[in-house]
Formats: sequence, C-alpha cells, structure tokens
Amino acid sequence: MSNQHFDTNAVHAGQQPDPSTGALTTPVIRSAPFVFGSLAAMDAYAAGDITCFEYGRTANPTVRAVERKMAVLEGADDAVASSSGMAALSTTLLALLRTGDRMLVADDGYRRSLGFIRDSLPRWGIQGDWVPVDDLVDNVAAELDARTRLVMVEAPTNPHLRLPSLSDLAEVCHRAGALLVVDATLASPALLRPLEHGADLVLHSATKYLAGHNDLLAGVVAGRQELIDEVRALHLNLGATLDADPAFLLLRGLKTLSLRVKHSSATALDLARWLEAQPGVRAVYYPGLESNPDHASARGQMSAYGAVLSIELDADLDGVGRFVDALQVIYLGTSLGGVESLALHLGVMMRHGLTREDRDRLGLTDQLVRLSIGLEDVDDLRADLARGLRQL
Ligand SMILES: Cc1ncc(COP(=O)(O)O)c(C=O)c1O
Repeated sequence: MSNQHFDTNAVHAGQQPDPSTGALTTPVIRSAPFVFGSLAAMDAYAAGDITCFEYGRTANPTVRAVERKMAVLEGADDAVASSSGMAALSTTLLALLRTGDRMLVADDGYRRSLGFIRDSLPRWGIQGDWVPVDDLVDNVAAELDARTRLVMVEAPTNPHLRLPSLSDLAEVCHRAGALLVVDATLASPALLRPLEHGADLVLHSATKYLAGHNDLLAGVVAGRQELIDEVRALHLNLGATLDADPAFLLLRGLKTLSLRVKHSSATALDLARWLEAQPGVRAVYYPGLESNPDHASARGQMSAYGAVLSIELDADLDGVGRFVDALQVIYLGTSLGGVESLALHLGVMMRHGLTREDRDRLGLTDQLVRLSIGLEDVDDLRADLARGLRQL
C-alpha cells in the first residue's frame, strides 16, 4: 500500500476490512485485556516469539491502525499514537534525552511545548534552551555543543508562521550529532513531510488537522524504527494511551485530510491576500504571501501553505476586543485545524500564564490575533473579518 499515492494511503493504509466480520471500516475495539488461548501462547508472547494483542496500554487494534496509517503518510518505519499532542511531545523528549543532555527549541512555538522544554526538563537534569526563530539555522549552529542531543522546531511555527529550511537545519544538527524533531502540526503530512527533508522524528498534535473536527485529543510521533522503539518503551510506562474511540474518529478524519487541508489552505491564502490590503491590518503572517520572509522556503517544502495565519491589527487592546467580539462565523477559542474557523488572542490568553518578558520575546502583542481557517465559505469568512475590521 505504501507505493500508492498520498490520498490513496490516507484512505487505505494501515487498515483493511475486518477479517472476522467483513466490516469495511476498522471497528472500535474496546477491550482492556486480549485473552490467550493457552498458557503456551501466553508464554510465546512473553518470550517475544509471537506478536498479538495483550493489554490495551501495550497495543489496541484500532489505535494500531492509526499508527500504521500515520507511519505510511509520513514515510516513517513506525509511529506511536498517544492521548494528546503534549503526551507525544513530552514522552518523545523524555525518551530520547538523558540527565546532562541539552536541547534547543525555536522560540516561536506552542507555549506549553516551550514551557515544558525550558521550565520542566531541568527537573530531570536536562537543559532546554530557546533559540531565536529568526535565522534559525545559523542560531542553532552557533548554539550546538557536545551536550546538545536534540533540536526541535515547529513547521510552520506558531503563531508567526516561520519556516526555516528543514534540510539545512537537519544537516547542521546531524553534523553535531544531534537529532532533529519537527512538530508539523500546522502543516500535516498532506502539505509537508519533514522526514523527507532529513528530520529524525515528526510529531503532531493529532487534535488539530489529523482529526480535523475539533472533537478529540490525540498525538502522534513517527520516525525510524529504533527511535520509535525508544519512544514506545517509555510511552508504555508513562501510560498516556490513546483510547479506541478517539482512535476511530482520528482514522476517519485522516481519510479526508488532504481534501480538508487543501481546501482550507486555499481559503487562507485568499483571506491572507485580502487582509494584507485592509487598512486596519498592520501585518499578516502567512508563508503563502510573497511578502513573507519564508515564502521561498515554504514554496520549496510545502505543497500548500496551510490554514493558520496571524494578523497584527492597527488598534489598541480595546479595538482588538471589538474586532474579535464582532466575529460571528469565526468563534473565539483555543485550538486550530478543525472544520470550524477559530480566532485566538494569545496575548490575553497568556496574560496570566506567561511573564511580560516571555510574552514580549514570543511576540504575543496586544495586536496579534491568530486565525485558524476552517471549511466555511470564503465569502462568509471575508464578510465576517470585514465586520470585525469595521469595529476597530
Ligand atoms: C504546534 C502544537 N504542538 C503541540 C500542541 C499540543 O497538542 P495537544 O493540545 O493535542 O496536547 C499544540 C496545541 O495547541 C500545538 O499547537
């Protein structure tokens, strides 16, 4: 199946009609234990002589179908699915890093990932440093030292939508003996496959585009077998297991991934171009715009530019409040990547969770609004944004 094209794999890879019933869709298998027919079978399983399902935290058939499909879509040997994107990220980092190691992360990124890396990893004796996303490859090259075992970047980054050359970054990392882990949540494998550009692991908040319907939490990490084996070994101990019910919904979401992401990317590009020309808009951060510093890099690596964009409005916080409060089609809420468009004011959301210094460093200004474009009609979304802009 992996020789087929992406869209065929999105539908078929990792699953087949249920052999026991002929059901076309992979069933939700809700069972904690999977029983053995004999003590000899249990013994053979325990000795590693046979593979079969044993216990829900170790493996589940519905979850395994997600993992197999994601491995094919990312061009990986294998994948581990978990109960959230943060579970995938924290398990991956803890599995690959040891006390005394150091890691680097680009400083434009999901605030919890950045917080975990800088503020929580030191509890395990691991140093996590933020590196400026501007000129990331050079900055990483300057920071890499003998203790740096891993570098992480989002692709594109969130909320400023930066995209360095992943192959240049991978080369710099590998020369120094460090792994490159890419959080490609904002792109999804329909638009960008980091392993093809030299990354060692790709991870996702599957809550976003992979599931696509704003109705579940999940995470996935994919890569070559020896790294995934290390991640899975710790995953089984930490126990942030994905249940069969969200796994079923995730499998269903993956089948329409390309359609959804391509459609919402086209809408986002249209809106980004329109927003760039609006008087109340000071800046539009979107890699699909020719004015974007990473446009050429994005064009070379992505098949479309994604459906997240951020804008800086020409207004004070009250004016920005009037803008978001006037939106009727676009809801105000955390998350991205679903069929419903969402707006998020990270500065306000983070006012109590981050220091002023951190908010300044991350560029979370009063004027910044992140938009996740869904599947609504582009004309209705444009009219909604115009309604907001009239209130500035
Ligand atoms: C880029 C990115 N990575 C990871 C996460 C964490 O994922 P989850 O919310 O599924 O734990 C998020 C959540 O917003 C995200 O935006």
